[in-house]
Amino acid sequence: MSKHNRMKSRVATGYGKIAALLLVAGGLLLGSILPVQKSAQAADIVVYKSPTCGCCKKWVSHLEQNGYTVEVHNQNRNTLNSIKAEMGVPRGLQSCHTAKVGGYVIEGHVPADVIARLLKEKPQIKGVAVPGMPMGSPGMAGPRRDSYDVLALQENGKTSVFASR
Ligand code: CU
Ligand code: CU
Repeated sequence: MSKHNRMKSRVATGYGKIAALLLVAGGLLLGSILPVQKSAQAADIVVYKSPTCGCCKKWVSHLEQNGYTVEVHNQNRNTLNSIKAEMGVPRGLQSCHTAKVGGYVIEGHVPADVIARLLKEKPQIKGVAVPGMPMGSPGMAGPRRDSYDVLALQENGKTSVFASR
């Protein structure tokens, strides 16, 4: 290698380092611009709730205690209502929060083990719902333990019992 060529290759290596640094910097920049998309990919369950809902927070903790990564979106009442409508949760079966997991909609205080069963069995349904807020369901600890059904939301708009507690 002539002296001239050696110089050239040293310069080229220098450019390579700069290019690498730029890539890293670009990556960091992208990472800071797109944190929402990044966490959306990492989250198992995406939850939509009102910012002031206490039982919703407790239900999120219940999911986290059962090993789920949860992404929480605080929404106002109107947005929540349109999310529920968009996801096909009938008015009469609504609860406080609405969640999305593996293509299914989860309405209300559905226990984590029922979600696990849903994801394992993968039935052809829209999702599951615990209408209202039964006392004793996850996130609804209280003096009583009411029995309740987790309903399967069928594609045709009908419901059936998916689990009973
Ligand atoms: Cu609630
Ligand atoms: Cu809730």
